[in-house]
Amino acid sequence: MSSNDEVLLRVEHLCQYFKIGPNAYTKAVDDVSFDIKRGEVFGLVGESGCGKTTTGRSIIKLYDITSGSVYFKGIRIAAGKKSYKEAIAKAKADLKEGKIDKAECDRIIAENRAAIKTADHDQKNCDREYSRQQIEKAKSEYLPKIAAAQGENKAKLEAEYKDVMRKARKTKLVTQIQMIFQDPIASLDPRMTVREIIAEGLIIQGERNKKVIDDKVYEMLELVGLVREHASRYPHEFSGGQRQRIGVARSIIMNPELIIADEPVSALDVSVQAQVINLLNDLRDKFGLTIMFIAHDLSVVKYFSDRIGVMYYGKMVELADSDELFLNPMHPYTKSLLSAIPLPDPKYEKARRRITYNPLAAHDYSVDKPSFRELKPGHFVMCNDAEYERYMKELK
Ligand SMILES: Nc1ncnc2c1ncn2[C@@H]1O[C@H](COP(=O)(O)OP(=O)(O)O)[C@@H](O)[C@H]1O
Ligand SMILES: [Mg+2]
Repeated sequence: MSSNDEVLLRVEHLCQYFKIGPNAYTKAVDDVSFDIKRGEVFGLVGESGCGKTTTGRSIIKLYDITSGSVYFKGIRIAAGKKSYKEAIAKAKADLKEGKIDKAECDRIIAENRAAIKTADHDQKNCDREYSRQQIEKAKSEYLPKIAAAQGENKAKLEAEYKDVMRKARKTKLVTQIQMIFQDPIASLDPRMTVREIIAEGLIIQGERNKKVIDDKVYEMLELVGLVREHASRYPHEFSGGQRQRIGVARSIIMNPELIIADEPVSALDVSVQAQVINLLNDLRDKFGLTIMFIAHDLSVVKYFSDRIGVMYYGKMVELADSDELFLNPMHPYTKSLLSAIPLPDPKYEKARRRITYNPLAAHDYSVDKPSFRELKPGHFVMCNDAEYERYMKELK
């Protein structure tokens, strides 16, 4: 369970559109907002193609996001600009149609141009900003200690300080977020040894001492249930479950604070799935990791997640504590996902009916438009006014 309410990651109105034609877009992620608190496991669930991976990849800055913001440790790491550009275009159109006067139009344009500038600046400088914070931290930690120390001890502290400062200058905020991928075969370079794969991030981060690197690699291998003899082998010599362990070792060595595990067990045999989930759980306890766990069905995330967000076609349709979501699912799509989970209970299984979700039949959004609303503290559902009233009654 999360030990406090510190927000580690905040995703605000995230949109990631892919251009598929001159004027056509796939809205892979469309206006999605959620927080992840330090220490929790946040499950992100939804059928294939609903935008889960795109959400994860947007968070680790693999895309220039279309609009919205991502904050990590309070620093804005990604910022999209489409909403600002649209506001400018709308102001110009409104001026032409006489809906607003010139002064108002200029004010809107200036405001949104400033927002675009800030977005560019924040995206570009987030690592530098974080590095600056780390340098300040190292200074305030080491300088008084060095000043007070003498002789051999002083020299030792000075050497340590130099090393910490070198790393602080090179540190990247975004490497504190590591992603574990669905396919452990495709995500490991077949020409690299396990040692090279696991150590790669460390070397990029500025570590040069071969013994430190080797020791760290061995430590990681043991941590994920492999042995040091595995270090000199190649990925193809391992089973699927072992490869995923290598993937986990590669991300953990970076000392991440947030792990985005993108369907880490979907490609594995059922018997191996539980082992990898248990491994993630152990690591979470050991290092106080925060995990965003992506899955296409609810059964995998059920026991593992503190909170769960349900996505459908690029939108977040429901978000609640795990227990609450299973007890009081409100959105028809969540209900349909729940109805797909088999239980080892013959009576239940006999009575279990798959609920199918058909958005056109389930909602009338022609006039009364939906938005993401809080039904009770922490329980959010995508609904319109009429549905909101109905859901509130149902909840009572
Ligand atoms: N690089 C891309 N270019 C164009 N379309 C993409 C790209 N990546 C994903 N998509 C589309 O975005 C949607 C969401 O994909 P994805 O995030 O991979 O879903 P999920 O991980 O939930 O299965 C899909 O329709 C997919 O085809
Ligand atoms: Mg995916």
